[in-house]
Amino acid sequence: MSDLAGKRVLLIVPGGIAAFKIPELIRLLRGRDCGVTCVLTQSGAQFVTKLTLQALTETTVYSDLFSLTDENEMGHIQLSRSADLVVVAPATANILAKMAAGIGDDLATTLLLATDKPVLAAPAMNVRMWLHAATQANMALLAARGVEVVGPDDGAMACNEYGPGRMSEPPAIVAAIEALLAPPHALDGAHAPLAGRHAPLAGKHAIVTSGPTHEPIDPVRYIANRSSGRQGHAIAASLAALGARVTLVSGPVSVPDPPGVTVLHIESARQMLAACQDALPAEIAVCAAAVADWRVAIAASGKIKKTPGAASPTLELVPNPDILATLSAPGPRRPHLVVGFAAETDDLMANAQAKRTRKGCNWIVANDVSPETGIMGGAENAVHLITADGVEDWPRLAKDEVARRLATRIAEALA
Ligand code: CTP
Repeated sequence: MSDLAGKRVLLIVPGGIAAFKIPELIRLLRGRDCGVTCVLTQSGAQFVTKLTLQALTETTVYSDLFSLTDENEMGHIQLSRSADLVVVAPATANILAKMAAGIGDDLATTLLLATDKPVLAAPAMNVRMWLHAATQANMALLAARGVEVVGPDDGAMACNEYGPGRMSEPPAIVAAIEALLAPPHALDGAHAPLAGRHAPLAGKHAIVTSGPTHEPIDPVRYIANRSSGRQGHAIAASLAALGARVTLVSGPVSVPDPPGVTVLHIESARQMLAACQDALPAEIAVCAAAVADWRVAIAASGKIKKTPGAASPTLELVPNPDILATLSAPGPRRPHLVVGFAAETDDLMANAQAKRTRKGCNWIVANDVSPETGIMGGAENAVHLITADGVEDWPRLAKDEVARRLATRIAEALA
């Protein structure tokens, strides 16, 4: 039986182009035996019809605050309490602003004010609207009040721009719903969000880097490394589970985006640095990415071809920016707590201690990545946490568990 069987979701559908994904979201939830009741706003009805939602949910779709029919079927206060979870998707800049301001000027916003149930928002908007200081301030406020968030993803948008703002895909929203509604025994501890009000990192913003970087040689070739992104992604999920608003800056990986986290997909070290700097300010930065130390000085604009008899090409390498050292540099935008990783194959502790001093970060998570450990790309990690107060040796643990412990230590340090 699905973990969502018998659960009930009140799905508020505001007006955004991503509303076209809502029928698929409902189909997935219904397929898990999860009950869905829709509230369609007036602008939402411009993108998806009441009839479609009604057919898929097999129940009444509500839309009017002052409709005698709606009120007779179920009063709005009762409707706001009728589900286990309220989901707002696509959460437009407008409805998020109204939620932050406590405005109730239609059925959807009134329900959001009246509900005593957890709320999950799946933001969807143009990249500039998402990055606007007003939206970011609203998100911080909502996170501090315990609103859970899934996405947005970055990618190409309907408006022909590129960046964060795309609504998470329906399977990721279902995963976030499941993380909130599944009974505790069924949850992987690393991904179980806490109710925001009790979340120790509520109101804090964390930037996490993860995965490898790809440094282009020409349009078809690149320099990369074996990092899977598992550790960094698990840390992002664990920080989000403790209530932080998390921006995950990820190189190319095959692990899925963690739910409830804003994921910025980049390729090169320079793009990773720019994305991190754009994401500031933050209270926490965790640099878990395996950033390529060098890039090709001038990547060829066309594919480098073999010429029979000619010498093999020589690649001139230049150093990449150091993201951890840049974020750790003193200044008004330095996060309060900056955590780096030290991946070493020799003299682990001495090299890691030296790295902490050299990079200027607060903590270093040191791990031995010699091939025989199977850690690089594997599911487990054996780490030592180096802080100003000394060294903690942690046992070999699943990467999810390392992430959970690290997130807990971060929450303790910022308490
Ligand atoms: N790091 C970074 N930017 C770089 C290189 C590394 O942010 N250009 C970060 C990593 O994310 C990690 C820490 O620095 O948190 C240490 O990475 P590591 O690869 O162990 O060290 P390097 O700085 O690359 O030094 P070396 O290769 O000499 O060990």
